[in-house]
Amino acid sequence: MNALELTDVRKVYTMGDGSDVVALDHATLTVGGDEIVALVGPSGSGKTTLCSIAGGILKATAGRIVVAGEDISGYGDRELTRFRQRMVGFVFQSVNLVPFLTARENLMVVDELGQRRGKLAQQRADELLEELGLADRAKNLPAQLSGGQRQRVAVGRALMNDPRLVLFDEPTSALDTKLGEQVMELIRTEMKRRGTAAIVVTHDERITQFCDRSVHITDGVLAG
Ligand SMILES: Nc1ncnc2c1ncn2[C@@H]1O[C@H](COP(=O)(O)OP(=O)(O)OP(=O)(O)O)[C@@H](O)[C@H]1O
Ligand SMILES: [Mg+2]
Repeated sequence: MNALELTDVRKVYTMGDGSDVVALDHATLTVGGDEIVALVGPSGSGKTTLCSIAGGILKATAGRIVVAGEDISGYGDRELTRFRQRMVGFVFQSVNLVPFLTARENLMVVDELGQRRGKLAQQRADELLEELGLADRAKNLPAQLSGGQRQRVAVGRALMNDPRLVLFDEPTSALDTKLGEQVMELIRTEMKRRGTAAIVVTHDERITQFCDRSVHITDGVLAG
């Protein structure tokens, strides 16, 4: 089953002065069940908008959005919240870890919204931290981690609820080249191990070599 099917998706933002910005137009994109797709395009081209719509953070103006067989096009806010918890993981450029929680707690906090509780959530968090090479950092606060380690915690957090699709919005842009490649290597390994699909937003052509396929976007329009 495909992880994502976007059909003719359109997003128009209406500004305070009544003018419209077309951020996404006739976007049609299929991401296979375990495919890693790079989404490449200049600043303002609609990459974050596309990811936000695919992940149910943002509602499209028109078009059809199907994630792992589930059509979310008509969902209201509550359905979208439930959908996000069950089906998608997000990793943002600005890692967004909670500064006063440890690495382990940053993973567990996702799960309070999800299915596991207490001990089970901790077990799951520790498993993931181990896989990500962070077992000995479980009790560190984000400020006590390196940039690459923080990014790995963010990857772990995105995987807590076994998502069908993980959306990485410029996951390496705050890292130097070498660290960025290490994080991409890790992302690829973790996605392939799980058979989980991903979209990786990037400006950086070097990052695309870690993906199965690249899709380019310019002014809200996709090109294969
Ligand atoms: N909330 C909003 N209200 C109005 N316009 C918006 C809003 N969010 C984004 N836009 C506009 O929509 C277009 C696409 O924005 P988007 O954030 O998707 O681009 P992007 O490709 O992620 O850019 P970047 O690489 O800089 O992150 C831009 O022209 C942007 O100014
Ligand atoms: Mg963006």
